[in-house]
Amino acid sequence: MTLSQAEFTFVSNLVRKEASIVLAPGKEYLVEARLIPVARAVGAPNVNDFIADLQKRPNPQHQRKIIDALTTNETSWFRDREPFSALIDVVLPDLIKARQAVRKLRFWSAASSSGQEAYSLAITLQENLPAGWTYEIMGTDISTEMIARAEKAEYSQVEVNRGLPATQLVQYFERAGAHWRIIPALRKNVSFKHMSLTAPFPPMQPFDVIFLRNVLIYFDVATKRQVLQNAAKILRPDGWLFLGAAETTIGIDDNYERVAAGRTSAYRIRNAVPAGAARRG
Ligand SMILES: C[S@@+](CC[C@H](N)C(=O)[O-])C[C@H]1O[C@@H](n2cnc3c(N)ncnc32)[C@H](O)[C@@H]1O
Repeated sequence: MTLSQAEFTFVSNLVRKEASIVLAPGKEYLVEARLIPVARAVGAPNVNDFIADLQKRPNPQHQRKIIDALTTNETSWFRDREPFSALIDVVLPDLIKARQAVRKLRFWSAASSSGQEAYSLAITLQENLPAGWTYEIMGTDISTEMIARAEKAEYSQVEVNRGLPATQLVQYFERAGAHWRIIPALRKNVSFKHMSLTAPFPPMQPFDVIFLRNVLIYFDVATKRQVLQNAAKILRPDGWLFLGAAETTIGIDDNYERVAAGRTSAYRIRNAVPAGAARRG
């Protein structure tokens, strides 16, 4: 059993419409392999019947399951390391000076997958903010399954082995049967919400730092530009944006400039008027 061209087109149109993810021709086998367990879970005899049924009777719940199955949720603790070192060495010293009056920072892990990025940020802030400072981290993702996992905050041994130092495992996790669960003292600063980056953004308080990592790669240029423009509106004028190693704003959105941040790069709003400064003219 293989997907027909029409079935593949139906699925790729759905995923493009709902998540702006581009499934190029040639991905038929990937789509089929990812949809086999979904079809089985909803009681369809096979993927072809599952798709045929959806074409006849649109079913938002089944559509969501397809989006969940076709998004790549690959993530790990302190992914790529350098962005987290840059936070400690460059970004936090800068923000600690700039936010003396409020002593509070807000971070956004956009496309947070199962939560490792958001909790890695929480550990970094927990260990590097001066006493008396507070922080909030919001994680969002289009996958409802990933949001549920992130909220549960439980990880298998294999998952914690991916990038989490043993000292931090001991300090910030407790045993939960065969799994490890993040301790409440860390969880209380982190919340998760379902959100599509490619739909109009809901109202949000501005953020000091946005981690928008390893998700733009799935979008076409127009969608990347739209997401970056929307992100600029909720990034504080003197805030910091981090993208994945294979992603950039260059040639896509000139409102950002790339700046060195330790051994990696970050992006800042070009010619931003610092918060509190009067505009001239
Ligand atoms: C490869 S993971 C990256 C996770 C994390 N940011 C990191 O770098 O490790 C990509 C995530 O983007 C999410 N995603 C894909 N399309 C999205 C969209 N349109 N809106 C929000 N999240 C999306 C997927 O569900 C997935 O969890």
